[in-house]
Amino acid sequence: MKKILVTGGLGYIGSHTVVELQHAGFKVIIIDNLSNSSLDVLGGITNITEQAPIFERLDLRNKADVVEFFKVHDDLDGIIHFAASKAVGESVENPLLYYENNLNTLVYLLQECKAHNINNIIFSSSCTVYGEPDSLPITETAPIKKAMSPYGNTKQISEEILNDVCFTSEMKSIALRYFNPIGAHESTEIGELPIGIPQNLVPFITQTAAGVRKQLSVFGNDYETPDGSCIRDYIHVVDLAKAHVIAMQRLLSEKNTSDFEVFNIGTGKGSSVFKVINTFEKVSGEKLNYKVVERRPGDVTTVYADTKKANDVLGWKAGKSLEEALTSAWKWEKKIRDKK
Ligand code: NAD
Ligand code: WQD
Repeated sequence: MKKILVTGGLGYIGSHTVVELQHAGFKVIIIDNLSNSSLDVLGGITNITEQAPIFERLDLRNKADVVEFFKVHDDLDGIIHFAASKAVGESVENPLLYYENNLNTLVYLLQECKAHNINNIIFSSSCTVYGEPDSLPITETAPIKKAMSPYGNTKQISEEILNDVCFTSEMKSIALRYFNPIGAHESTEIGELPIGIPQNLVPFITQTAAGVRKQLSVFGNDYETPDGSCIRDYIHVVDLAKAHVIAMQRLLSEKNTSDFEVFNIGTGKGSSVFKVINTFEKVSGEKLNYKVVERRPGDVTTVYADTKKANDVLGWKAGKSLEEALTSAWKWEKKIRDKK
């Protein structure tokens, strides 16, 4: 049984990936400091897979703890590194928190990988590395523009760190550039758990429909798009989780064609904010209270992935529709409201 360390494995995308890894027969060890997740998630993963992953509560910013962890777990076959801070606005207000949490942790992990000869790492990157694209759909060869936030900058720098380390060592890495992950596991055992007011569209929609928020603000209807609202590539989190399993299998079976590879992980389809609202209303049967307001600073007009490389080279394709993703997000929202 191959042993995989999943950092941030109790978080939104990490937890769904742990489920898919266990389904695929991997043994999983999770590191998480619970800064943006809860221990209940461990129970959810165990309920779905009937298997409890090993869990170590550990803050990856604490280098001494990281060193100790690897002394005990020096037989890992690979690492999937999710642990990071991810709020774009917060990163503008507190850049050092982001540089510390998103970069130091990666460096400490890579130092231990080197020390213990662990040579396979999958990294959570983001479509945010592309900024405002020159052409659509966005391919992996699109230029990396100056980041629009410290958060985005940490993803760009992390990719550079990995590229440099792979160039000078036995390390092999795949960076997956996620587009907009949404939805939840169909079991409703795990899903997204935003703390405080959601910054992202879909949790704001589901919380508004559930009565937790009064009204959704649609940030602008005067963009150069068919209905005036911004367009994104919304990817079901379970499809995204599966991409990690395939990427890890690619490294373990040495199918990678270079030591550092990047793949866009999206559906290849763009959906506007109004399309998401209308689809949500259709699948939930709820009428959403929303109002068009000013544009949100920093929003890019249109972003969607060219998924040819992921489809043809990685052998991964999104299988779930926007309807399915929004249905699962709504089912999850209702479940967590019922629990409260
Ligand atoms: P999340 O916040 O739900 O999960 C991250 C997990 O990492 C949390 O459980 C948190 O407690 C943990 N963590 C954070 N700092 C840690 C530390 N120092 N030590 C140990 N654990 C720590 O976020 P997510 O949405 O699951 O995102 C996972 C990764 O994917 C992140 O790297 C994020 O930047 C990236 N990403 C997310 C999105 C998105 O929209 N959700 C899009 C693109 C990329
Ligand atoms: C989607 C669309 C908003 C909220 C962010 C990060 C990105 C990546 C994914 C990590 C936009 C509109 C939103 C609301 C709205 N994360 N919107 N009202 O901005 O595409 O990407 O998450 O890497 O880095 O920036 O996602 O869900 O915030 O917004 O109208 O209350 O919904 O303007 O057009 P975004 P989002």
